[in-house]
Amino acid sequence: MARRKKIFEGKAKILYEGPEPGTLVQYFKDDAAAAFPTERRDTIEGKGVLNNRLSEFFMTGLNSIGVPTHFIRRINMREQLIRAVEIIPLEVVVRNFAAGPITTRLGIPEGTPLPRPIVEFYFKDEKLGDPLVTEEHIIAFGWASQQDLDEMVALALRVNDFLSGVMMGVGIRLADFRIEVGRIWEGDFQRLIVADEISPDSCRLWDARGIISADDPPRELAGQTDAYTELAQRLGVLPTNVTHAGKPTLIN
Ligand code: TMP
Repeated sequence: MARRKKIFEGKAKILYEGPEPGTLVQYFKDDAAAAFPTERRDTIEGKGVLNNRLSEFFMTGLNSIGVPTHFIRRINMREQLIRAVEIIPLEVVVRNFAAGPITTRLGIPEGTPLPRPIVEFYFKDEKLGDPLVTEEHIIAFGWASQQDLDEMVALALRVNDFLSGVMMGVGIRLADFRIEVGRIWEGDFQRLIVADEISPDSCRLWDARGIISADDPPRELAGQTDAYTELAQRLGVLPTNVTHAGKPTLIN
């Protein structure tokens, strides 16, 4: 059997050449580094299976309301068929509640609702630690055009409305999340679409069933080993034929 061509391997996923031109196969690994970047953990068994399902669930929902994504269809437990895109080298973060670096940089207590969703851009460069950048940097260095930026903000805010609503429906507050955006060409026209994945690895999720106050930070779902199972269970997207008990277990 011919060996398929690996295009790229990251912390959480591998991309292989797809069956048709313009497609790729995205394989979800169990690697823990994406979820726990500062801790010495190797794998969370079952994470890739759940993230494949969760990303399918969110991307399918987005496609169905007219927000374009790279998702075509799930192939098996760990793989999905996606459209090949030219990735824009920016992490697009949307924040609804203060958490993470914004709390220390601007002195806002964790859990504070923000006056409106705040969209931020981080330059994708691991050696530099994915630094926060402004629109001025992005345009000056040619990472994206002003029109791309306007489209990315609009896309990110639509994803935010959709995800916030879906999460709130299952008792989860979406504090913030990150998407990646890709460029595709349709004839002479380019379109920006949501790429990569949407899963607990790229979202900060708080249990909205508890009481939230600045003094008593809400229980985080993401960052816990079983956040993946908890979210999949609440959304009703747990695969039925996973061989382990349904709960990812931490290895190492
Ligand atoms: P932050 O508060 O650490 O900046 O992260 C904001 C959100 O974006 C959080 O839900 C995690 C996600 N994120 C990633 O998944 N990868 C990244 O490289 C960045 C900058 C953020």
